[in-house]
Amino acid sequence: MLVLGIETTCDETAAAVIERQPDGSGKILSNIVHSQISDHAPYGGVVPEIAARAHIDLLDGIVGRAMKDADVNFAQLSGVAAAAGPGLIGGVIVGLTTAKAIAMVHDTPLVAVNHLEAHALTPRLTTALAFPYCLFLVSGGHTQIVAVLGVGHYVRLGTTVDDAMGEAFDKVAKMLGLPYPGGPQVERAASGGDPKRFAFPRPMLGRPDANFSLSGLKTAVRNEASRLIPLEEQDIADLCASFQAAALESTADRLSVGLRLFEEQFGPPHALVAAGGVASNQAIRGALQAVAAKAQTTLIIPPPALCTDNGAMIAWAGAERLALGLTDTMEAPPRARWLL
Ligand code: KG4
Ligand code: ZN
Repeated sequence: MLVLGIETTCDETAAAVIERQPDGSGKILSNIVHSQISDHAPYGGVVPEIAARAHIDLLDGIVGRAMKDADVNFAQLSGVAAAAGPGLIGGVIVGLTTAKAIAMVHDTPLVAVNHLEAHALTPRLTTALAFPYCLFLVSGGHTQIVAVLGVGHYVRLGTTVDDAMGEAFDKVAKMLGLPYPGGPQVERAASGGDPKRFAFPRPMLGRPDANFSLSGLKTAVRNEASRLIPLEEQDIADLCASFQAAALESTADRLSVGLRLFEEQFGPPHALVAAGGVASNQAIRGALQAVAAKAQTTLIIPPPALCTDNGAMIAWAGAERLALGLTDTMEAPPRARWLL
């Protein structure tokens, strides 16, 4: 089964072709990702209108490259999948409409994929992983703990009540004058800082639910930073290290609760899986390893290129749905909001 996948929900314009075998294993034949970071960096964040226009300019060429790299023509495709949301609606419309046009012209099934479902299923593309497993989805737009019970069968165990984790990293970076996107910058600065210099709050610690909250921690960093102005380089490093330590401790606690809730409701998970841009943070990886070990489960983190937004994850989710006979009609709507 050959599937083309298209991703345009945020600031990556991406397309990929994957192959799925009848035994459920998968192979990436091509995976082209164009990051628009440099288009948005001057504004300190993603500008929806600029993103949508860039997707329009770039997508045809990127789909063409993905098909050429995979050495596949449209007639050979078993289906074409696009992320139909959730995301910035202008970009979603561009990707979904392109997929519909390809599906219509080549008489190929269309799959309108939920972007979050694609993150949830991606580990099965690179690892032989059976359901059920526990997903920690942690990106610029999402911070969720999800029980993945089967294709199309998800139960949310916890979510952020305010900012997403990546958003908090980005906002902290911005207030400290570090460039966008801030997550990797905060991680870099933190490596030279003292995580104990500032005693920031550990949000939600010890609560019986598995929810997250990050805006109070972010505000605590802002208050401390404004007290220290003018900021020396060491202050920035110490603020980043102390912020990251607080975020990590809170994450470890929230995930421990999430895994406990998982086990109570669905039995032991086959793995704890982390996905999303923040999962590429090395310190978070270390914390997740400890949480998984304590819960006696395996930690799986897809390679960084599959953790951040890409076309292969959309193609793979499309293939998983196609294998179950799940396709969509030309009426499939683009959605800004779409719960898993
Ligand atoms: O999954 P992703 O590429 O896009 C979506 O948000 O959907 O995630 C991007 C987010 C940004 O907020 C970025 O700052 C954060 O992931 N991020 C990191 C790191 N690398 C990326 N946050 C903390 N540490 C990192 N190393
Ligand atoms: Zn994403």
